[in-house]
Amino acid sequence: MTERTRVQSQARGDALDYDLSSFYYSSSDDVFDILGIYNDWHEDATLRGYYLYGQPMSSRPTTRVELQEMLEQRRLNLLNLSSYNYLGLSYRPEVIEAAKQALDRYGMGAAGSPVLSGTMDVHVELEHELAAFKKRPACLVFPTGYSTNVGLIQGLMRPGDLIVADQNSHASVVDGAILSKAEVRFFRHNRPEDLEKKLQSRRSKTLVVVEGVYSMDGDVCRLPEIVEIARKYDARIMIDEAHSTFIYGENGRGVAEAFGLEDQIDIHVGTLSKAIGGQGGYVCGSKGLRAYLEAFARSRFFSCALSPVVAAGVLEAVRIAGREPGLRGRLWANVAHIRRLLREEGIDVGESTSQVIPVMIRNDRRIFELGHRLQRAGLYLQPIVYPAVAKHRSRFRISVSAAHTHDQLNEGVAILAHVLREEGIL
Ligand SMILES: Cc1ncc(COP(=O)(O)O)c(C=O)c1O
Repeated sequence: MTERTRVQSQARGDALDYDLSSFYYSSSDDVFDILGIYNDWHEDATLRGYYLYGQPMSSRPTTRVELQEMLEQRRLNLLNLSSYNYLGLSYRPEVIEAAKQALDRYGMGAAGSPVLSGTMDVHVELEHELAAFKKRPACLVFPTGYSTNVGLIQGLMRPGDLIVADQNSHASVVDGAILSKAEVRFFRHNRPEDLEKKLQSRRSKTLVVVEGVYSMDGDVCRLPEIVEIARKYDARIMIDEAHSTFIYGENGRGVAEAFGLEDQIDIHVGTLSKAIGGQGGYVCGSKGLRAYLEAFARSRFFSCALSPVVAAGVLEAVRIAGREPGLRGRLWANVAHIRRLLREEGIDVGESTSQVIPVMIRNDRRIFELGHRLQRAGLYLQPIVYPAVAKHRSRFRISVSAAHTHDQLNEGVAILAHVLREEGIL
């Protein structure tokens, strides 16, 4: 039996016991053999409802969305608890108008790397706005949050250096660390005492990497203890506030502001795709850091600049987020409301205290079935499984937005509780 037929027959027998980790390697001599093996499984698994990803949306990512159901080829109208857009800004009329005007003025794309011809005045304005908002001397914008972490870490760290990152760090942190060829150690999630262990034997230049709010668990970084330990060992600190800037802190500058520790952090990273609902990422820090990364962050240097249309849209959204603190207030009221409902229903949300709320299922096999049932009942919630989280830590991830009404949150939790109860999970 060839490897392909063996995997095919196993896949037919038990498609749901496989996941992406089954398809990294093949013993064949042909690079493309793994494609056939993977595709056979993927087709079979899709037909059995395993795969719920990439369903095309044909509406704005508001609180209700139109979704194309792939298995039965139906168009669904669903209550949306899946999109980031935490402040409901992606479709605000002023944001759309700013993007339209930029389209008329600049055309569609930047048509160049930011270090060559791709920097337009709107990019410079966006960087100034973000630096002023974050109260940092300088800012550098990247095309995505992912490329920000990759370029920043690869651009700054070298073979022989040490990166000590939280074990739940986003893939972009991991990929940047791999590209840098520095030594990488992970400390146990949000455990400062383990960070200290990992730093004790350090002999080289060190960067400690944490996130403000962790993207899959929704818990907040124990920043005061982490800063204290990193300082004790003379390590530099980088915080990725992808899920916390514009949300946490009195002025929305993030978890570092909320803890009063902004000046203790060397590198502030964020994205424009989450609270802002657009695209792009940024690094805020010293002017020297900005200048160095402009020259050495390859993911930015060797890639076309962020579209000026998006840059203009996110610039307007950043201004709105700054002048309308009520949006944060609404978001936090919604978070408190849904957390109360979830608690009353006895739904397990792990360690979350933020607008990112996992609904822990811990069953990699059943979660897709449950996802289909939720969609049939009218709720759009995405299953999150390995490699986004560890195996057997599967969950649905609720993203709460300032734009949700309490009625919508009531409806969403009622559907969720009903399906989980019917399936014997509650
Ligand atoms: C913590 C964290 N950093 C970076 C990113 C990448 O950001 P983007 O999706 O804007 O590329 C994400 C995205 O999920 C994230 O959760």
